[in-house]
Amino acid sequence: MSIKKVMVIGAGQMGSGIAQVCAQSGFDVILNDKNENALERGMHSIEKLLARNVQKGRMTETEREETLARLTPSTKLTDAASVDVVIEAIVENMDVKAKVFQALDEITADHVILASNTSSLPITEIAAITKKPEKVVGMHFMNPVPVMKLVEIIRGLQTSDETYQAIEEMSQVLNKTSVEVNDFPGFVSNRILMPMINEAIYTVYEGVATPEDIDTVMKLGMNHPMGPLTLADFIGLDTCLSIMEVLYEGFGDSKYRPCPLLRKYVKAGWLGKKSGRGFYVYE
Ligand code: NAI
Repeated sequence: MSIKKVMVIGAGQMGSGIAQVCAQSGFDVILNDKNENALERGMHSIEKLLARNVQKGRMTETEREETLARLTPSTKLTDAASVDVVIEAIVENMDVKAKVFQALDEITADHVILASNTSSLPITEIAAITKKPEKVVGMHFMNPVPVMKLVEIIRGLQTSDETYQAIEEMSQVLNKTSVEVNDFPGFVSNRILMPMINEAIYTVYEGVATPEDIDTVMKLGMNHPMGPLTLADFIGLDTCLSIMEVLYEGFGDSKYRPCPLLRKYVKAGWLGKKSGRGFYVYE
């Protein structure tokens, strides 16, 4: 199938980045958010990043204008009736996503692919909400989307080969490297990353070393660009906890139990960079 027009649902951190990269790559994009202010913020952040690209010589003024001309803001989900692919990037909550996929199932024609950028919810379960599970797939971008090269393409139990191939081709056009992943808790990225972060938090909890020293070990000793605790603060400690819960529940294995210190910080509202305090303090 040839994909020309895309709707991205959710104009937050991830959705605005996905919409930007799609528009830059030549797709017509509808950026949808139910919240008008969020939609404005998302469009504004895209405009800012595109202007910076021109300043830095990564893009011409004409390319910037053409990219913006391909982007249409929308608050109506029914606009999905005109697209070939929908990429959902709304809050990480199954009940909320379920309502959106139920509505999309009614709005979109049978051939339209419904992708989710979920970082941890089961694609198979999202697909089962619809009447076309073969058209549902995970398209897991990394943050920040314009910078990070990877897309994990997650095959739900019923995702068809045709759907997988269409999304693989689309990822190439977006200049991303994709990997094929079967639908299991945490996919590949978070199944490996989150237990490492959780273990780093246990290392603080047990008084083995300070957060600064733990991050130094992983940066200078393992050549990681960022220490695990700095990364956890950047991702958001609430998000880290919810992904650990998904792994723990999904596998039923005690090796995935979230560290009590992680729970305590989240209960205190210490959510990392976004709340001003996590393992580090942010001004
Ligand atoms: P965010 O909170 O920045 O943005 C979510 C947006 O969705 C908000 O603007 C909100 O108004 C909108 N929204 C909520 N319900 C909606 C609905 N029913 N219809 C239309 N819009 C709706 O969240 P973020 O960080 O962009 O995450 C979005 C998704 O991407 C989540 O599933 C998350 O797990 C996943 N993800 C997040 C990553 C990250 O580093 N933040 C990385 C990879 C995936």
